Amino acid sequence: MTVHVVVLPDPAACGAAVADAVADAVTGAAGGPVNLGLATGSSPLPAYAELIRRHRRDGLSFRGARAFLLDEYLGLPRDHPQSYRQVIRRELTDHLDIDPAAVHAPDGTADDPAAAAARYERLLLDAGPIDVQILGIGRNGHVGFNEPGSPPGSTTRVVTLTGRTRADNARFFDRPQDVPHRVLTQGIGTIGRAAHLVLVATGPEKAPAVAAAVHGPVGSAVPASLLRDHPRCTVVLDPAAAAGLGPGRSGRMCGTGTPVRGYR
Ligand code: GLP
Repeated sequence: MTVHVVVLPDPAACGAAVADAVADAVTGAAGGPVNLGLATGSSPLPAYAELIRRHRRDGLSFRGARAFLLDEYLGLPRDHPQSYRQVIRRELTDHLDIDPAAVHAPDGTADDPAAAAARYERLLLDAGPIDVQILGIGRNGHVGFNEPGSPPGSTTRVVTLTGRTRADNARFFDRPQDVPHRVLTQGIGTIGRAAHLVLVATGPEKAPAVAAAVHGPVGSAVPASLLRDHPRCTVVLDPAAAAGLGPGRSGRMCGTGTPVRGYR
């Protein structure tokens, strides 16, 4: 077990801890460009707000950085406000000094999605390892869009969403039926190549999935549990999301990797 669990008072504190991990990667990059792995969804938003603040206030610079999104809906027009490419621009990268051409996402508009998936996997392999990969978690334990049943060694591919995930994501669309059925997502194996995984979860609705991921059996039934095989995985939680971990576990570090800075 090599997961570090960090429980912090509220989502803003969780965001600051995630921002610390990203800032460490950005400022510590020796030589080549830093590769950032970005997630969409609500959970990373406080971290993104904090990174924008640090960029504006402290001059934290993302010049030379490259960013790679975890996943993308299939079939939304490129400029659709809920395409993850647009979401990440709006929530983060448009507000930083990162080169827009260095922000990458799987091509959800491709005529041949399987070929687009293979191209994205190739792009990631050629770019070299992601230095820090931000992750959220779905209520059914999915990471990226790796739904239950996703194999540990999976790579970027087409996935059909479960009804539950579509229902969870319906809040972002005008009508529930507008949520795409199919997506492109980095696989569990793709995600696992990153040097440091930082999974952030807040709120009580995430508590069962977090407990299953951190303390349940390791297996494809809960895709996030597969990350426990990773040498450096940090799970950043607020008390509500940590509630299922039980007393005596929350607030303590588990495992052997390096914690997020400042929260040992
Ligand atoms: C989507 C994304 C995931 C994200 C999950 C949870 O399914 N593909 O990357 O982790 O939603 O989202 P939220 O953080 O909004 O709960």
